[in-house]
Amino acid sequence: MESAEYHHHLALLEWQIELGVVESIGDTPVNRYDVPAVVDKPKAPQATPPVAGVVAPVAFDAVAEAERAAAGAATLEDLRAAMAAFEHCDLKKGARNLVFSDGIPGAPVMLIGEAPGRDEDRAGKPFVGRAGQLLDKMLAAIDMGRTRSDAPVYITNVLPWRPPQNRDPKPDEINMMKPFLLRHIALAKPQVLVIVGNWSCQALLGKRGITRLRGEWTQAAGLPALPMFHPAYLLRSPEFKREAWTDLLALRARLSGG
Ligand code: URA
Repeated sequence: MESAEYHHHLALLEWQIELGVVESIGDTPVNRYDVPAVVDKPKAPQATPPVAGVVAPVAFDAVAEAERAAAGAATLEDLRAAMAAFEHCDLKKGARNLVFSDGIPGAPVMLIGEAPGRDEDRAGKPFVGRAGQLLDKMLAAIDMGRTRSDAPVYITNVLPWRPPQNRDPKPDEINMMKPFLLRHIALAKPQVLVIVGNWSCQALLGKRGITRLRGEWTQAAGLPALPMFHPAYLLRSPEFKREAWTDLLALRARLSGG
């Protein structure tokens, strides 16, 4: 049972609220410039004591989930379906289409780009915009092409969804989608990889620096791999087409057993 004083104060408070009071202030003014700012220290997370019989929630591991989904794909079609069903990469939310691949599966050359741009996002196919047109010309110059059954190329990207505003891929996006890329390579069974651009090198070689890496055969995903300038870079810096031509000839020679 509350005291009469309690009810008196409560009535006063209710009356003030009725009058529109929304804040309480003191009787004496405070100079806020003299008051040291108090910064709340972030509290250390409290360990929750385990409760008998209750299983603690396990942090979700999207990379492990990608590995599981990729490993379950027995064919390229399975892999496409597994990627389409993968809901843990935020890029998917902003993309129109999954960009899986183009060209001829089983081709001796598998070319790996970075990520779809606007045109690829619309078409659902890799390398169909200006960079893709240059890529087709580059391949044609060594008598190869994504539609040539006599000298085919198979093409994909590290990321299957367009990053917003064509921004660079983020490391966690690359890590999350890498199990799918590795499975893609294993199922497509190319003889060699061509890795175009810095972000593809980051995904498959663990390093960037395409100016140093290009033209040097290396190993990626257990296969001989040739890093090359990205055709989009060659559109911006055509003076490097000479190096790209040297690399294309090296690719041609390797396939001819040279
Ligand atoms: N750039 C890429 O790396 N991939 C594409 O599919 C298109 C542009």
